[in-house]
Amino acid sequence: MRLASLICMTASPITGEAARRRTFAIISHPDAGKTTLTEKLLLYGGAVEEAGAVHGRKGRRTTASDWMEMERERGISVSSTVLRFTYEDVVFNLLDTPGHHDFSEDTLRVLAAADSAVMLLDAAKGAEAQTLRLFEVARARGIPLITFVNKYDRPGMEPLEMLDHIESVLGLTPVPATWPVGIPGDFRGVIDRRTGQFHRLTRSVRGATRADDEVMDAEEAAAREPDAWPQAREELDLATAVQPHLDPDDFAAGRATPVFFGSAVWNFGVEMLLDALLRDAPAPRPRPGQDGEPRALEDAFSAQVFKVQANMDPRHRDRTAFLRVCSGRFDRGMKTTNARTGKGFTMAHAFEAFGQERAVVDEAYPGDVIGVVNAGDLRVGDTLHEGAAVTFPPIPVLAPEHFVTARNRDATKHKQFHRGLGELAEEGVVHLLRRDAVADPTPVLGGVGPLQFEVARHRLEHEFGVRAVFEPTSWNVARRTDEDGAKALKQAGRAEVLVRTDGVLLALFRTPFGAEQAERDLPDVLLERMLER
Ligand code: G4P
Repeated sequence: MRLASLICMTASPITGEAARRRTFAIISHPDAGKTTLTEKLLLYGGAVEEAGAVHGRKGRRTTASDWMEMERERGISVSSTVLRFTYEDVVFNLLDTPGHHDFSEDTLRVLAAADSAVMLLDAAKGAEAQTLRLFEVARARGIPLITFVNKYDRPGMEPLEMLDHIESVLGLTPVPATWPVGIPGDFRGVIDRRTGQFHRLTRSVRGATRADDEVMDAEEAAAREPDAWPQAREELDLATAVQPHLDPDDFAAGRATPVFFGSAVWNFGVEMLLDALLRDAPAPRPRPGQDGEPRALEDAFSAQVFKVQANMDPRHRDRTAFLRVCSGRFDRGMKTTNARTGKGFTMAHAFEAFGQERAVVDEAYPGDVIGVVNAGDLRVGDTLHEGAAVTFPPIPVLAPEHFVTARNRDATKHKQFHRGLGELAEEGVVHLLRRDAVADPTPVLGGVGPLQFEVARHRLEHEFGVRAVFEPTSWNVARRTDEDGAKALKQAGRAEVLVRTDGVLLALFRTPFGAEQAERDLPDVLLERMLER
């Protein structure tokens, strides 16, 4: 009997279920084709029969209200959609991330729940400045990245140029997994490096339905593409002379990335990407708790909240928490403990989401994501567990770089104003900072980008009935400090120190230079950079 079958027979059902999970996210710049690729993965994963079934046609997402509109259209937060499909007996959990730089913190939370990510690049644009932050976030977490260069049917960078770009701009070692035949704009197909075969582009009606690749060996490829094939082979040999293999350790640590070329709109390269996810993307592994001790997959149930979203259903106020299962088996109605508060939490109303639909979930395994409604007490980062206690490390936040003062325009809505801001801060929509911990009538909001404030204003008005005025401030840089640091900084007149809702003290500076000067002049003061450039 083969070793693999023996392992399967002896593995616990939970380890076996975890081994057939792939939980991943797609990160990209808006317009690079994430919606299209998602649809096509679902098409090839057999979850939909025709592309376009899940996501409605959407407009340009340039303003917050477009963004909110889209959330409404989809009926579920853009930033927390989980799509689940089974392909070749493996369960794929695809976690959606917002493509915009301003929502990088959302991406960070989602990546905390993912085991790998697809980095989607536009063949013409590569990694654009605005979204470099998203990729940096993924790199900082050291999560394995698979690169898909999309829109190869259109003019864009030459493949060697694209590899250079990935290496120099993203600091990743790119290793080609496929290689384009033809030139951008006159794309004929790709060479699959594993088999050496030519996958020739065949077109279905704008890729609405599956189109099986025409696959042929090198000899036939050379006969069919007498110019493009030898040139592609030569370039591939050149590229692989530099980077012959994908080092598994470098891939696992997010230092090296396999690169696929394709065209999502024409379904091209999608199946090869899906196969790569199946073959190479890691299955869930035991997660270390805060004490560094990994929680074995087959241990009692444990899960971490990575996203909280209030008022998803405008008809009644509710609060939904999204959890990633880390160990054990989830059963509906099970009683768990919130490690932060020590209080019990019964998982009565759990669901899995598929686009607009929600289905009741009865059981789930490591790698799966479940939503729980009425999650009043749950916060981002909380650990829920059965059996032996465990606390997973907090989900990191980014240093805010934009700050506004929030003022309530309606004095009779004092309570709603503060409650609204408090709830939005708990969800992670904005950072809420106060001059003193008790009640600051004009608190400061911090964010990675100004679009976050737009969302906060919109939601304050529509969900809490509060009209607020946000005024710009002159701060642009935040550093974490402590009580002693706060005193020293105030005395020296170097920074204003505000306290965030989680109790963290943030020293605010006008310029990076101001922060660096304080670091130099006050070497004993704690001025910690958070996850930032
Ligand atoms: P996003 O979610 O990342 O923002 O991108 P989305 O999938 O919406 O794609 C953005 C635009 O790029 C869409 O065009 C889409 O059709 C197009 N696109 C996606 N993949 C490819 C590809 O492989 N090749 C080419 N040529 N185009 C691609 P649109 O004009 O905004 O919408 P539509 O009228 O095409 O639906």
